[in-house]
Amino acid sequence: MTFKNVFISIIIATTMILSAFLIHRARPEIELAQPSPEYIRATGKCASCHLKETSAIVHQYSMSKHASENITCYECHRALDGQEELGHKGFTLAKNVTALNCSQCHTTEYDQFIRSRHGAPAWAAVTGRSDFTEEQIAFAEKFHPKSVNRGENKLAVIEGPGVMEKGCLGCHAVGKPNSDGSIGSCTACHARHSASVALARQPETCGQCHMGPDHSQLEIYNESKHGVLYALQKSHLNLGADPKTLSTKDMSVPTCATCHMSGLEGMNITHDVTERLSWWLFSPISKKRPNYNLGQEAMKNICLKCHAKTHVEKFYREAEEVVIATNGKVQNALNIVSDLRKDGLLTPEPFDEPIEFIAFDLWHYAGRTAKHGAFMGGADFVQWHGNYELLLKTIEMEEMAEAIRSKSHQKN
Ligand code: HEC
Ligand code: HEC
Ligand code: HEC
Ligand code: HEC
Ligand code: HEC
Ligand code: HEC
Ligand code: HEC
Ligand code: HEC
Repeated sequence: MTFKNVFISIIIATTMILSAFLIHRARPEIELAQPSPEYIRATGKCASCHLKETSAIVHQYSMSKHASENITCYECHRALDGQEELGHKGFTLAKNVTALNCSQCHTTEYDQFIRSRHGAPAWAAVTGRSDFTEEQIAFAEKFHPKSVNRGENKLAVIEGPGVMEKGCLGCHAVGKPNSDGSIGSCTACHARHSASVALARQPETCGQCHMGPDHSQLEIYNESKHGVLYALQKSHLNLGADPKTLSTKDMSVPTCATCHMSGLEGMNITHDVTERLSWWLFSPISKKRPNYNLGQEAMKNICLKCHAKTHVEKFYREAEEVVIATNGKVQNALNIVSDLRKDGLLTPEPFDEPIEFIAFDLWHYAGRTAKHGAFMGGADFVQWHGNYELLLKTIEMEEMAEAIRSKSHQKN
């Protein structure tokens, strides 16, 4: 070897060492802090490049528990059995990251989630049974009879596929069947990269879907004592507290998640939002759910972490009175429509005559709102958006029915 060759080799080797050092230094801090070999292989490559390409994602990820627990980008993004693959910069990724990818590590949450109405029933409420396998239908029907084994929603069909996709399914996709056989979306509440419980505990997260005149839960909450305290005392709450040890010291004010999901003071955490309910409030005529006693006891046990028994029992008694009274008023109004139909004065199709729209608004807006308001502390919703509208719309319907009948007399 000549002196010149040795000199060139030394220069090349020094340059390589120096560049390795510089590249290492340029790596994001999250990676330098956790230098396990897998981390450098999977996250390091993804993160250092994505810091240039889609930097917000890397910043969101680096705030997450996943980053501090060494869960790599690749562990979520890799293609599992049955998933469509995407070749990407030398890695084989899943074309879509779904609940299946999360369920690798979070089986308990997934199993609870798919038992709830956030699973298959949410999607089927719009599109019916057609997108589900026989096994998926049988599974959901065990927990929620007639929730998946049903036809597509008539209103959605009339409005057309574009609206169904961007409108109805914008919210109901929380239970979308994925092409890999799994169901639903965990990121509806957790977001993709921050995967945070603090985010999921805030009412705005649920309010992405639980709002508007047909299910005004967010608006009701905002005007309730709980919602007002939350808005004004949020900075004193420990919204990121570990779910397994969550106490009333962390959350002295309940949010949607506290009542419907959290394991407050040693109670069970649940991703089955159906577990603590006792009435089908969303129905035109609300009936008790099959697990009425268990559901009500579970919710009352949450209230009892913060309230006295007499207070809670009185609250439930009064709310149930509103449900029963509302059922009576809605039934009375729906009879007006069914009597007209019986007499052949309406077509059998829904949503082609004005009175059908008023009847729909009556139970779907006013009736539901009155019942939800009663159970979640929204006096304005029980009264002005609820009972007042029930009264007004019933009178409108009676007048419309009279006009339809007298028009048909004139014809005959
Ligand atoms: C050398 C750079 C580089 C590396 C390494 C890299 N990516 Fe990417 N990635 C990109 C670019 C560029 C895009 C396209 C961005 C755009 O469309 O604006 C992209 C897109 C993506 C997308 C969207 C794909 C789609 O079409 O839906 C995902 C998901 C993704 N990357 C994840 C990863 C993961 C996970 C890793 C590591 C296992 C990784 N990337 C490694 C550069 C990189
Ligand atoms: C907890 C699981 C998880 C981790 C960890 C994770 N991702 Fe993702 N990522 C997702 C999910 C879920 C989506 C949405 C995928 C979809 O819709 O198909 C996504 C989407 C993306 C996209 C496309 C986003 C868009 O809006 O176009 C990119 C790029 C991406 N991830 C990069 C990364 C990188 C880089 C890392 C590591 C720094 C990372 N991800 C870590 C779950 C994860
Ligand atoms: C490879 C395993 C793995 C995958 C895949 C994974 N996680 Fe995690 N996740 C973890 C670990 C480990 C923790 C921390 C465990 C703990 O704190 O008990 C965690 C914690 C969480 C937390 C609690 C965060 C907090 O603030 O306390 C949420 C929420 C979460 N993951 C959601 C998801 C979602 C949603 C997905 C899919 C998009 C996902 N995870 C994918 C392993 C994983
Ligand atoms: C803004 C989000 C959002 C949109 C848009 C939306 N929904 Fe819903 N839907 C919900 C929520 C939240 C509930 C649960 C209400 C409750 O339990 O009080 C619900 C409940 C339902 C129910 C009753 C539950 C059941 O399983 O029978 C049906 C049916 C339904 N929606 C169909 C539709 C149809 C059809 C469309 C479009 C024409 C639509 N939804 C648009 C959020 C939405
Ligand atoms: C309806 C909203 C919602 C959906 C959908 C959802 N989560 Fe959660 N998740 C929450 C809330 C709220 C908490 C915190 C509960 C509490 O207050 O302690 C949580 C907590 C968690 C935790 C932490 C649990 C613990 O014991 O530390 C994990 C892990 C998690 N979710 C994973 C998932 C996975 C996986 C999915 C999808 C199968 C999912 N979540 C879907 C709202 C949701
Ligand atoms: C992406 C939209 C979306 C988000 C976000 C969401 N939900 Fe829902 N939720 C729905 C839909 C749609 C339904 C109705 C499903 C059905 O019965 O068809 C529903 C139903 C429910 C029900 C009634 C279940 C039953 O058995 O009747 C409860 C309770 C509930 N959600 C609580 C929550 C809470 C608490 C959060 C936040 C932590 C939340 N939801 C976040 C869309 C959402
Ligand atoms: C103080 C506790 C509490 C808070 C906070 C709370 N809820 Fe509720 N929620 C209840 C009770 C109690 C019921 C009625 C339970 C029953 O059926 O026995 C209920 C009913 C519901 C239902 C009705 C399901 C049906 O049958 O139609 C939905 C959906 C819901 N809540 C969502 C939410 C959302 C979203 C928030 C936050 C914006 C929220 N809740 C805040 C206690 C609470
Ligand atoms: C995490 C604690 C917590 C939980 C759980 C909780 N609450 Fe409350 N609630 C509060 C606080 C704090 C106040 C304000 C009390 C005060 O001013 O001392 C309040 C106020 C109320 C009020 C208004 C009292 C008034 O006269 O101003 C009612 C009604 C109520 N809660 C009912 C319930 C019911 C019913 C449940 C269960 C479905 C429940 N709460 C669950 C903490 C909670």
